[in-house]
Amino acid sequence: MFKNIKSTKTLVKKSLTIFLLAMTAVMFSSVAMSVQSLRGDSALDSKANKAGKHKIDTVEGGIERNFELQPPMIPHTIDKYRISLKGNGCMKCHSEKAYKKEKAPKVGDSHYVTRDGKTLKTISSRRYFCTQCHAPQTKDNPLVDNVYEGI
Ligand code: HEC
Ligand code: HEC
Repeated sequence: MFKNIKSTKTLVKKSLTIFLLAMTAVMFSSVAMSVQSLRGDSALDSKANKAGKHKIDTVEGGIERNFELQPPMIPHTIDKYRISLKGNGCMKCHSEKAYKKEKAPKVGDSHYVTRDGKTLKTISSRRYFCTQCHAPQTKDNPLVDNVYEGI
């Protein structure tokens, strides 16, 4: 009797695992079918279709942040500004010196602090490549629904 209950339990466990695996497979295949990636539906080993033009969104007053300490999104186009060893196009407007004249927000105070906690007069090297953290936005529909809610 006891043995029987045990084997029924294992049977239930087994079928549950199989059921869950099957459901996961169904979920994955339907996601893969419904998402149209930016490179279109061309096969992975073929050349991608030419990407469509994606207009950069200009948002006056900036883009709302979703959580504290989020690097704010860039609310303007950036294709004309170069960041290289010779210079940083972004700092022409966002530096301590220029921001008032350009009516641009000054880079965060954290951007002058080195990893050893020293505050510099010029941008810290770890904040030099702005687009490592800040990104502009386009007006495209998201590829998948985003249910994240800001905090
Ligand atoms: C010609 C001046 C100029 C240049 C160059 C420039 N910006 Fe801006 N930026 C602005 C202005 C003005 C705003 C404020 C726009 C607004 O709020 O309406 C702004 C806003 C931003 C913000 C949003 C800040 C916030 O608190 O919401 C970020 C991030 C930013 N810029 C990053 C960059 C980066 C990165 C570059 C270089 C790739 C760059 N900017 C180049 C003028 C400039
Ligand atoms: C390593 C990531 C990182 C890099 C690189 C970086 N930032 Fe930021 N930035 C942040 C974060 C995080 C914040 C928000 C918190 C803060 O102010 O430190 C921020 C805030 C800002 C703000 C808003 C400041 C405010 O007071 O509201 C501006 C403008 C900005 N960054 C511009 C720039 C520019 C221009 C560069 C390049 C010279 C740059 N950032 C490089 C992460 C980064």
